[in-house]
Amino acid sequence: MNKIAVCFVCLGNICRSPSAEAVFRDRGEAAKLADRIVVDSAGTSDWHIGHAPDERAQRAAKKRGYDLSRLRGRQVDEADFECFDLLLAAMDDANVAALAALCPPEHRDKIRLLMEFATSDDTRVVDPYFGGDEGFEKVLDQCEDAYDGLLKVLRAQLVA
Ligand code: 4NP
Repeated sequence: MNKIAVCFVCLGNICRSPSAEAVFRDRGEAAKLADRIVVDSAGTSDWHIGHAPDERAQRAAKKRGYDLSRLRGRQVDEADFECFDLLLAAMDDANVAALAALCPPEHRDKIRLLMEFATSDDTRVVDPYFGGDEGFEKVLDQCEDAYDGLLKVLRAQLVA
């Protein structure tokens, strides 16, 4: 495989998954992998189609040098299971369940939790939408933590 496409998935596509997309795009560019690892994000709901990321997510990301301003919400659809050839990195169990309900059986193994790749004991990226700013910082901490582990798996696929 010489190119891999990863789609990060949460509920609204305005908090967690755009944050993950920005972290992975930024770091992938820094690692000169931008042309080999394609990143995108989507929501399982249709609530925020066309919306910019939540202001709090944008603010927290900007402090760390990530620009979310040009991202827009979209809803995951069945075609994504074809287009995204390695996995859909979901944030929590509700995302996994929603994806599994939509997923053709042959692509079921593409649905993975982002925190499987992290070093911390956290297993889920908790929805920060109804909480305070600290929740958005935690999301970024978790995405940054998962980066190295996910990159290792992606790199192995790229050379395989
Ligand atoms: P996300 O967070 O899934 O991380 O984008 C949410 C965004 C919006 C809502 C819930 C969660 N909402 O209820 O509108």
